[in-house]
Amino acid sequence: MRTYLVTGGAGFIGSNYIHYIFEKYGSDIEVVNLDALTYAGNPENLAGIDKEPNYHFVKADICDKEAVAKVFKEFDIDRVVHFAAESHVDRSILDPEIFVKTNVGGTAVMLNCARDAWEEGSGFKAGKKFLHVSTDEVYGSLPEDGGYFYETTPYSPHSPYSASKAGSDMLVRAYMDTYKFPANITNCSNNYGPYQFPEKLIPLMINNALTGKPLPVYGDGKNVRDWLYVRDHAKAIDMVQEKGELFETYNVGGHNEKQNIEIVQLIIDTLLELLPDEDPRKKNVSRDLITYVEDRKGHDRRYAIAPDKIKAAIGWEPETMFKDGIRLTIKWYLENEAWMKNVTSGEYQKYYEKMYSGR
Ligand code: NAD
Ligand code: DAU
Repeated sequence: MRTYLVTGGAGFIGSNYIHYIFEKYGSDIEVVNLDALTYAGNPENLAGIDKEPNYHFVKADICDKEAVAKVFKEFDIDRVVHFAAESHVDRSILDPEIFVKTNVGGTAVMLNCARDAWEEGSGFKAGKKFLHVSTDEVYGSLPEDGGYFYETTPYSPHSPYSASKAGSDMLVRAYMDTYKFPANITNCSNNYGPYQFPEKLIPLMINNALTGKPLPVYGDGKNVRDWLYVRDHAKAIDMVQEKGELFETYNVGGHNEKQNIEIVQLIIDTLLELLPDEDPRKKNVSRDLITYVEDRKGHDRRYAIAPDKIKAAIGWEPETMFKDGIRLTIKWYLENEAWMKNVTSGEYQKYYEKMYSGR
């Protein structure tokens, strides 16, 4: 039986990944989810799975060496899938330090503890693998009129978030080069789907539209992101572990570029289509809510992944068309109003006030 240590498994992508591997492998695997439960971590994302005997939750900070080392002592970990991070660009602009601490410092702790636990003779025990989940934002920004991010594109991060993720990627690369540490890196484009915290574009716009609040579009709304349904990302991570070459980096994404304003308009139109007339939320939803606000500082203009390598080497390609994925996502938020209410109470209100007032 294979044992996974998933960090940040109570967050958006981590929880979707845990759902995916439970569906795929069921009781053939053991899963340890190590998560500090910051504002972005939510045990409700794993409701149901948390009752499974082969699921174990450890509330701990990846920066806490003793706590992480203890997990490696208690469990014979075969796979580390490292999601835990501070993940929101806007928050990194407000408060960069925690990004360096968690994303760089925490990754160093994860690498050291895995190395200590897995070392054998002059190498590493057979079958052990560390997958570092990273982002396309490390590559910087592309011009509007063309170009793609390849694995060979030089790093050029612009936000404190992407700089800290670039730092973490460099550490993983250094461990692979120096110690032949058995790892892979994946750099993925923007994810969307269930369980995403509503500080990010898509769930924020859905929540604001349903509650009749302004829809804050940064700058001219023409920045481009390359959107991938989160389950397709989970599948890519699994396939890299199963079929990838150790020490390789794989870009994950799927030629699905959209301007932010297109996304916001599509959300409104889809909400109007899906909501029955008798639903009281329907009267709030309107394109009139769109409000252009001050741009994000250092706002990257365009991201676009070239997924050629992962397709050729591993056979992965995105399966969910955007038109289907966005409907599934909007339906999920409509059906999970209690989840949204829960995560937007308390701390979220203070964040929203600080981030958007005066914009
Ligand atoms: P998220 O913010 O939704 O979740 C992060 C999780 O990490 C939360 O459960 C949080 O509690 C946990 N966490 C944060 N700090 C921690 C710490 N110090 N110790 C232990 N746990 C901690 O993030 P996400 O959007 O799911 O992103 C997951 C990973 O994927 C990140 O590494 C991010 O850089 C990367 N990524 C995200 C996207 C995207 O579109 N969201 C795209 C590409 C890559
Ligand atoms: O590209 C991968 C990255 O995608 C991940 O590494 C990050 O963790 C993830 O947060 C995401 O970063 P972005 O900054 O692209 O995502 P966000 O949802 O914050 O913003 C998407 C676009 O929408 C961006 O151009 C900014 C814009 N935006 C965002 C918000 C929250 C708005 O116009 N208004 C908003 O209120």
